[in-house]
Amino acid sequence: MQMSHRISGFQASPIRRLSPLARAAEKRGTKIHYLNIGQPDIDTPQVALDAVHNYSKSFIPYGPSEGLPELREGLVEYYKTLGVNDLESDDILITTGGSEALQFTFMALCDPFDEIIIPEPYYTNVTSFARAAMVNLVPVTSLIEDNFSLPPIEEFESKITRKTGAILICSPNNPTGYIYTKMEMLQLLELVKRNDIFLIVDEVYREFCYNGEFTSILSFSEYSDRVICVDSFSKRYSMCGARIGALVTKNREFLDSVLKLSQARLCPPDIEQEAAIAALKTDTVYIDNVKEEYKKRRDFLCEGLSKIDGVISCVPKGAFYLVAQLPVDNAEDFAKFLLNDFSYDGESVMIAPAEDFYVTNGIGKKQARIAYVLNTNELKRAIKCLDEGLKAYNSR
Ligand SMILES: Cc1ncc(COP(=O)(O)O)c(C=O)c1O
Repeated sequence: MQMSHRISGFQASPIRRLSPLARAAEKRGTKIHYLNIGQPDIDTPQVALDAVHNYSKSFIPYGPSEGLPELREGLVEYYKTLGVNDLESDDILITTGGSEALQFTFMALCDPFDEIIIPEPYYTNVTSFARAAMVNLVPVTSLIEDNFSLPPIEEFESKITRKTGAILICSPNNPTGYIYTKMEMLQLLELVKRNDIFLIVDEVYREFCYNGEFTSILSFSEYSDRVICVDSFSKRYSMCGARIGALVTKNREFLDSVLKLSQARLCPPDIEQEAAIAALKTDTVYIDNVKEEYKKRRDFLCEGLSKIDGVISCVPKGAFYLVAQLPVDNAEDFAKFLLNDFSYDGESVMIAPAEDFYVTNGIGKKQARIAYVLNTNELKRAIKCLDEGLKAYNSR
């Protein structure tokens, strides 16, 4: 019996594939600081947890494939708080996380071997979503020395072919923390309009902006028929395991197409949608505090990294990641070393090698994505481990 050629070409996630090494280190008694994964350690809003505790249906039903009406209506109100006033609940389809929103989008927009243009580095799981849909990702490289800002628009234009279905960006960006400016978005919108393709914008980190103004793609109403926004409750309300996301667009043909996929998977999870409905009622103070906490962590991490010899880091304006260039030839080998062969005061650190956040071979080999999802006390120890780990690795 053989598995498909398709699945054998899938990558093991660079965010998770070193986990067995981390578990083995823990078994040996080493404390591991997990900076590899975007799993916030912040409490979920109490209103959302209460909704789970108070779930009162006598059985857990299948709901509508497009999501519960109260949740879609709740999101219409939420987007108004971002200054987006022209949405109706029919412009919103609830998905099982932003992950499913991305998968549905690829399936609906592209035939096998069609292309999606993406600035690299990018959220590495997109590689698997593209592969499942048999879509080719066409990269435009953004550079650490430019703080990963949008590469010249001509580079995107030169990559457009008959096979191009869309350009996909993520803002605030995972893994770089870059927030695309209004001007950069307008350049992209003009480009997709000229070429009659779509612009997909993943805004799952929308609430986490520390510097620079964030503009939602949903606010460019003139281009709304070719814009698809990916959203998620995972990070905003620290409810990653609830698996609630959304697709938002004024393009009804696209949403009608996606609905066929949604119907095949029946519905998003019911209890978690109730939690999401409640989460939308979260006091804004919650978000303000969370944002303040991440900003503190970002500043702390950037300062810590700037003091380590040979480390070059971007300065993230949002989300909770950064990409750092390390003074090593191969960040994956170094990440393994940290887990297999190193500890400092009984502790070590897990980072995500960044090579697989790129399509282009070889770029990012010296880079790692670091998530600042731990409190500053833990971050301090993690930075120390990284510093001592680099010294130990380079003096072997
Ligand atoms: C940029 C980006 N998009 C989408 C997702 C998917 O999130 P979820 O499926 O939990 O909504 C993630 C998760 O880390 C992400 O970083």
